[in-house]
Amino acid sequence: MQPHRTAQRLAGIELSGIRKLFDAGGPDAVNLGIGQPDFDTPGHIKEAAIQAIRDGKTGYTPNAGIPELRLAIAEKMQRENNLPYREDQILVTAGGSEALHLAMQALVEEGDRVLIPDPGFVSYAPLAAIAGGRPEGMALDDTLHIDVDAALEQMDGARILVINSPANPTGMVEPESTIRALAEYAEDRHVTVISDEVYEHFIYGARHVSPASFAEDVITINATSKTYAMTGWRIGFLAAPDDYIEACLKVHQYCQACATSIAQYASVAAYTGDQSAVIAMRDEYRARRDLLYDGLAALGIDFPRPEGAFYMYVPMGEERIRLAIEQGLLIVPGSAFGNRTPEYARISYATSRDTLQRALERFRILAEEHPW
Ligand SMILES: Cc1ncc(COP(=O)(O)O)c(C=O)c1O
Repeated sequence: MQPHRTAQRLAGIELSGIRKLFDAGGPDAVNLGIGQPDFDTPGHIKEAAIQAIRDGKTGYTPNAGIPELRLAIAEKMQRENNLPYREDQILVTAGGSEALHLAMQALVEEGDRVLIPDPGFVSYAPLAAIAGGRPEGMALDDTLHIDVDAALEQMDGARILVINSPANPTGMVEPESTIRALAEYAEDRHVTVISDEVYEHFIYGARHVSPASFAEDVITINATSKTYAMTGWRIGFLAAPDDYIEACLKVHQYCQACATSIAQYASVAAYTGDQSAVIAMRDEYRARRDLLYDGLAALGIDFPRPEGAFYMYVPMGEERIRLAIEQGLLIVPGSAFGNRTPEYARISYATSRDTLQRALERFRILAEEHPW
């Protein structure tokens, strides 16, 4: 039978390799590949969803989101990010993923250059390409932070600059000087910044700074997914100047109609309720980071201590990555995140301390056989 015809623009786009990898792990696999919190959603958020169901709040909502959630998000942006968005400058989406998709669809013209970190989150390049753009990787320096000089050089003539701090997969947090330099230069060169801040609450010492503090032409993206351990609820948002909201709403309205009503009510409780669960999760991630980092350092594995998110990006060499996965230590090869760092692997510590101890034991055996 002839293969069915699909659109040419998808020809160069592959399904994400990360899931495929995990099917390979046997029953005693130690899984450090997961990109989502291992915590349950806090109780008061779940209760708000249950209440919404009981109250029959199960129909379509306004396309841009329920007013109380847009307001709660605008207040969050003021309180936590010191950014004065009005509630009608907030568009509620199905996770940060949809917000990224909308921004690309609304802004990118055929052939536009879209600068993305390499290594970077797996969705950036495909979403840019699906929008007709040309994704272009930006290099990191030796400390796994954005190489600012190289990025500024690439910026002339680009349409979009994607910034992601704290970053997936490196776990690094960009300092204010970098965020400011990139945002101001982008504004000067008419490059729109898309700032993906989904890990903003998971920072261990450094401070989160939003590019929108330094430039006007910025779309800020965030989600309840990581902050409140709500990946499956699918609520995110973008905050942007009015004309971008209107353009993004055109795409959102026709492809999504609205984010899930029940999850929107739950998200109001997330943003307006008790934040102590977020702090407890952050403290636990920090303890796990130290456990894992110190354990790897003791084996002679030398790399910069990650400052945020729940990932570390470890120089392994391609052969060790292959062996580790073969032996059931599930980590994600750097090749999943771009072209520049195939010798690295992403390790997630969104898993129990017990699992991390078992992982360190596997690393110890690996290091004995193949010293770093
Ligand atoms: C950097 C980054 N941005 C966005 C997302 C997507 O988040 P969501 O689950 O809200 O769509 C992820 C998820 O892994 C991520 O790591």
